[in-house]
Amino acid sequence: MSMNGYRCIACSATQAADFEGFLCTFCGGNLDISYDYGAVANKIGDSFLKGPHDLFRFAALLPLEQPRSPFPLRVGGTPLYLATRLGELLGMRKLYLKDDSLNPSASLKDRASAVTIGRALDIGAGVVSVASTGNAGSSLACLAAATGLDAVVFVPANAPLAKLTQMLAFGAQVLAVQGNYDDAYDLCLAASAEFGWFNRSTGFNAFTREGKKTCAYEIWQDMGGQVPDRVVVSTGDGNTLSAIWKGWCDLKAIGLIERLPKIDCVQSTASAAICKTVHQIRNGAGLKVDWSTLVVGEVKAATVADSISVDRPRDGLAAVKAVIQSGGEAVTVTDQEILAAIPEMARASGVFPEPAAAVPWAGVKQMIGNARVASEERVVCIVSGSGLKDIANARAVVGEPQLIEPSIEAVRKCQI
Ligand SMILES: Cc1ncc(COP(=O)(O)O)c(C=O)c1O
Ligand SMILES: [Zn+2]
Repeated sequence: MSMNGYRCIACSATQAADFEGFLCTFCGGNLDISYDYGAVANKIGDSFLKGPHDLFRFAALLPLEQPRSPFPLRVGGTPLYLATRLGELLGMRKLYLKDDSLNPSASLKDRASAVTIGRALDIGAGVVSVASTGNAGSSLACLAAATGLDAVVFVPANAPLAKLTQMLAFGAQVLAVQGNYDDAYDLCLAASAEFGWFNRSTGFNAFTREGKKTCAYEIWQDMGGQVPDRVVVSTGDGNTLSAIWKGWCDLKAIGLIERLPKIDCVQSTASAAICKTVHQIRNGAGLKVDWSTLVVGEVKAATVADSISVDRPRDGLAAVKAVIQSGGEAVTVTDQEILAAIPEMARASGVFPEPAAAVPWAGVKQMIGNARVASEERVVCIVSGSGLKDIANARAVVGEPQLIEPSIEAVRKCQI
């Protein structure tokens, strides 16, 4: 294993690789897993560059003791589409969709769950827990079912029905909290500490970032070793965005690429804690940011995009750092723009996103519209979850079928 320890995202203090805690013992900040990149560069072989069609082919850059390949389900290895018709709507010729809805539980969260489950198996944990707006829970439940672990999921009671149903179908203990995601998060922390469960919750568990970063490796591979100009990420807690940035930074650190893409953060205007902090930093241009004291403020979140409805981003600092260091944009889109983006994407690409997964496209529209992004740029939107996970919100914007009697005359009278 080339993992060589942990580094605090806030104060940069380090912990050895055998550290068994989750947070920085000096300041309580989130940890980031570090590697001996020289050793990784020597180890990179055919399996990393080609390999089986799942994320465990990147074992050289994963913090696991045991190789988990073949994993019982295929996680990762999702397609990167050149979305020609969708791009044409904005005069873009190089717009790509990374369709991570094609993971086992239909969201990008499976990448994080696969690697945290690998960690749970390495340390002999029998019960895994998670707080979730819906996708992390359905993902953990799915992969726990595949590997024989028990899963406990804390989820807001009003999570979309499909996500709740997935968790139950996969046999997790589902605790539907009468509160919001932030309430579920704090409860999961307390319960996991009390009962000794291995807590996969976003931000708290450093292994989630390691799984999600593989999304960047795959984009790089599918682009034939090219680096896009931007990767556009729908953001709630900020873990996904910081993971995608880390993936590109890893590739640069081991000498596979020479330049890094910009990472654009798109949030709902009704849940925009990370964007607000990025703007505050940029408005104080010239001042050096002290990451050890920077606080990502809280908001009162209320967006239709349930997956990114977050009061207090649990990996906010990592995300703010990633946007600032990569030179990316931080843009907010309204719920109306998010909902309108769903049928637009579906009709011009054939990829059906859940509200949170339509957010990057809504962000690209805005950034092309106000010339923050040029139409000739090579842009990748991450499609982080399937439209089938939230039918109720999609239904409100896709129109109604024409109800007809079962006769050819009835068809003739229809407007087709
Ligand atoms: C579909 C989807 N998109 C985007 C995100 C945002 O990821 P993060 O909370 O790490 O910012 C999530 C997280 O739940 C999600 O489920
Ligand atoms: Zn610290």
